Amino acid sequence: MSRPRIYVTRRIPEPGLDLLRQAAEVDMNPGDAPLPRAELLARVADCEGVLGLLTERIDAEFFDAAPRLRGYANYAVGFDNIDVPEATRRRIPVSNTPDVLTDATAECAWALLFAVARRVVEGDGVMRSGAWSGWGPLQFLGAGVTGKTLGIVGAGRIGSAMALMSRGFRMPVVYTTGSGRPSEVLDRELGAELVSFDELLRRSDFISVHAPLNEGTRHLFDAEAFARMKPSAILVNTGRGPVIDEAALVDALRERRIAGAGLDVYEREPAMAPGLGKLDNAVVLPHVGSGTRESRTDMATLAARNLLAMLDGKRPETCLNPELYA
Ligand code: DGY
Repeated sequence: MSRPRIYVTRRIPEPGLDLLRQAAEVDMNPGDAPLPRAELLARVADCEGVLGLLTERIDAEFFDAAPRLRGYANYAVGFDNIDVPEATRRRIPVSNTPDVLTDATAECAWALLFAVARRVVEGDGVMRSGAWSGWGPLQFLGAGVTGKTLGIVGAGRIGSAMALMSRGFRMPVVYTTGSGRPSEVLDRELGAELVSFDELLRRSDFISVHAPLNEGTRHLFDAEAFARMKPSAILVNTGRGPVIDEAALVDALRERRIAGAGLDVYEREPAMAPGLGKLDNAVVLPHVGSGTRESRTDMATLAARNLLAMLDGKRPETCLNPELYA
């Protein structure tokens, strides 16, 4: 039997590629930038499987360009880049990489929270520039974290992991969920409170955004939301950029309507909203939430196992349209 042809849209950690090469003919974009759309569509023309990234749109045009496609594996937990109903209509299974990046992304959210609260980047800049003149009681005062209220917007896997990590800081936790149903684990472990979005905005000292991007969450954080937050509040986003109206955030930060923001994701990646990079109350990272060696390797092997299962006619471990296997 001939081996299936697979295209990998960007270099991923070797253990994932090794798995694919054991069972398939693998071609790959060797660079570290997304292929121009036309080139990507040409590359997948005769492939049965594609392992791709969140920077690619997997939609009707993509499926049309890959008529032999029998499976698409996303190298990400987020899947707003995939038109899942369209894949299902065409009976093409698609998968994502949940769980293996949960702790890494939650840790990144904490890194941003502390970096903003304790002005880590500003302090680092002063040290490196040689401008520090010695200890002073009023220098670089930040916000305490212990005992403050943490608001989790979207207490799914990653939001819940972040909330559970707050135990050491004895923080009351309030949260929202996409379904509106309470989280058993957060209620049991933390006595956390499920609240409305409005109440979360009003009560939280730190707000961490984990809601997936969909039409209901696009620009959930807009000028009105910032107006309802405490002026001392700090906002962290390691989910998807468009959940925040970034231009409105820049205004809110500039006018100190909220105290600070730590961002890993942006509305129009890789660009940032004008002015964001100039604000000293914002800390900005280049979408590295899942970026630990461990997580990125586990994402690669999970995506590879998923793709090989799909090509073998089996249900992948983390399938986005499991009804295809019913
Ligand atoms: C995801 O998995 O959705 C992240 O944004 C990248 O790891």
